[in-house]
Amino acid sequence: MAAIKTLLLIFSFSSLLILSSVCEAQTAPPLVKGLNYTFYKTTCPNLESIITKQLKSAFSKNPGLAAGLLRLHFHDCFVQGCDGSVLLDGSTSKPSEKAALPNLTLRPAAFAMINTLRDLIEKACGRVVSCADITTLAARDAVALSGGPNYSVPLGRRDSATFATNATAIRFLPRPQSDVTTLLSALKLNNLDVNDLVALSGGHTIGIGHCAAFSNRLFPSRDHTMDPTFFKNLRLTCPTNTTDNTTNLDVRTPNTFDNKYYVDLVHRQGLFTSDQDMFSDSRTKPIVKRFKNNQSLFFEKFAFSMVKMGMLKVLTGTSGQIRANCSAKNPGTVGDAWSVVDLEVESGGAAAAY
Ligand SMILES: *[C@@H]1O[C@H](CO)[C@@H](O)[C@H](O)[C@H]1NC(C)=O
Ligand SMILES: *[C@@H]1O[C@H](CO)[C@@H](O)[C@H](O)[C@H]1NC(C)=O
Ligand SMILES: *[C@@H]1O[C@H](CO)[C@@H](O)[C@H](O)[C@H]1NC(C)=O
Ligand SMILES: *[C@@H]1O[C@H](CO)[C@@H](O)[C@H](O)[C@H]1NC(C)=O
Ligand SMILES: *[C@@H]1O[C@H](CO)[C@@H](O)[C@H](O)[C@H]1NC(C)=O
Ligand SMILES: *[C@@H]1O[C@H](CO)[C@@H](O)[C@H](O)[C@H]1NC(C)=O
Ligand SMILES: *[C@@H]1O[C@H](CO)[C@@H](O)[C@H](O)[C@H]1NC(C)=O
Ligand SMILES: *[C@@H]1O[C@H](CO)[C@@H](O)[C@H](O)[C@H]1NC(C)=O
Repeated sequence: MAAIKTLLLIFSFSSLLILSSVCEAQTAPPLVKGLNYTFYKTTCPNLESIITKQLKSAFSKNPGLAAGLLRLHFHDCFVQGCDGSVLLDGSTSKPSEKAALPNLTLRPAAFAMINTLRDLIEKACGRVVSCADITTLAARDAVALSGGPNYSVPLGRRDSATFATNATAIRFLPRPQSDVTTLLSALKLNNLDVNDLVALSGGHTIGIGHCAAFSNRLFPSRDHTMDPTFFKNLRLTCPTNTTDNTTNLDVRTPNTFDNKYYVDLVHRQGLFTSDQDMFSDSRTKPIVKRFKNNQSLFFEKFAFSMVKMGMLKVLTGTSGQIRANCSAKNPGTVGDAWSVVDLEVESGGAAAAY
C-alpha cells in the first residue's frame, strides 16, 4: 500500500493508470456469502477451459445455441434464484409441449448442452461442479464467444431439488408484452433496478422471438412506436395473429453480441413491447442512448448486472446438492416432478421477456 502511495505521488501519469484499475475492480457487485471467483481452483482447475472449448465448437455449428444458453441462465435466476431449477425435466421431455411449437430446437439444444458439459466436467474433476454454476459459465461464454465481454463470474452455487410454482414463475418472469413500469416492478422483486433492466435487456442482441410474443404490436394495427418499414417486414413473417414463426431479436447483427440492439431501439426497430418501451419511457431512454453511443459502457454495465443477477438467492455451502443429472434431482431427495417454469416460458404468447 505504501509503495502504491509513493508511486501515486511520484508519477502522476501512472497514478492515473493505477486509479483506473482500482475503479475497474470495483465495477463488480459485492460477493454473496459462499461464492467466490476461485471456488473450483483446486477441485476443478480446467473447468472454464473445458466449457469454452466445447461451446466454441458447438456455436460454430449452431450459432443460435448461444442465445439459448444465455436465456437459460436468465430464466434460472429470475425464478427462485440461480439454483439450476429451470433445468429440471418435465416440459422438455413432454412430447405434447415440444410438438406444440414447431421450431424449438434452440431450447432443447441448450438443455442438452448443459448435460454434455456436466458429463465432460465430471469426467475431468468428479462430481464437484453444480449445474447452476455450469449454466452461469455457459451463459458467460455464450456472450464472450458471440463478440461480447468475457467477465469473471463468482462460483460456488449449488443445485435445488425443487422448482417454483406456476404462479411464482409468472410473477417473476415479465412477459415481452410488458411496459417499462411492469418490467421495473417485476425486476424489483429480485432487487434489480432500472440500470439492470436496460443492461440485461441488451441480451436481446442475440436470439430469436416468436410471433406470438410481438403480435400485439402488429394486430389489429401497427403499434405507433414501431418503424413502418420494420412493421411491413414483420407482417411478412407473421401474416396473421395466429402464425407461428420466428424472427431475429436484433435486426442488424442477429448473432453478434454488440450494442446494435440499442441502435434498433433508437430507430424504433425493437421487437417486443418490453424492448421498444425502453425508448419511450423517460426513466430508461437516457440509458438506452448511452449504451447506443458507447459499446464499452454497455459491456461494462451488462457484465455488472449479469454478475449481480447471477447471485440471486443462490444455494451455497451445504444447502442443496450437486446434481448427477442436470435434468433430474438426485435419487432419494424430496422434490417436485415437473418444471412449470418451462411450460410457461415456452408457451408462445406467455413467453418471457428474457
Ligand atoms: C472460495 O471458496 C472455497 C470453498 O469454500 C474456499 O476453499 C476458498 O478458499 C475460497 N477462496 C477465496 C479466495 O475466498
Ligand atoms: C473467459 O475468461 C476465462 C478466464 O477468466 C477463460 O477461462 C475462458 O475460457 C474465457 N472465455 C472465452 C470465451 O474466451
Ligand atoms: C429454426 O431453428 C434453426 C436453429 O436455430 C434455424 O436454423 C432455422 O432457420 C429456424 N427456422 C425457422 C423457420 O425459423
Ligand atoms: C400457468 O398459469 C397460466 C396463467 O394462469 C396458465 O395459462 C397456464 O396454463 C398455467 N400453466 C400450467 C403448466 O399450469
Ligand atoms: C415465416 O417467416 C419467413 C421469413 O420472414 C417467411 O418467408 C415465411 O413465409 C413465414 N412463414 C409463415 C408460415 O408465414
Ligand atoms: C386474432 O384476431 C381475431 C380477429 O381480430 C381475434 O378475434 C382473435 O382473438 C385474435 N387472436 C389472438 C390470439 O390474438
Ligand atoms: C465509453 O465508456 C467507457 C467505459 O465506461 C469509458 O471508459 C469511455 O470513456 C466512454 N467513452 C466515451 C466516448 O464516452
Ligand atoms: C436425466 O434425467 C432425465 C429426466 O429424469 C432423464 O430423462 C434422462 O434419461 C437422464 N439422463 C441420464 C443420462 O440418466
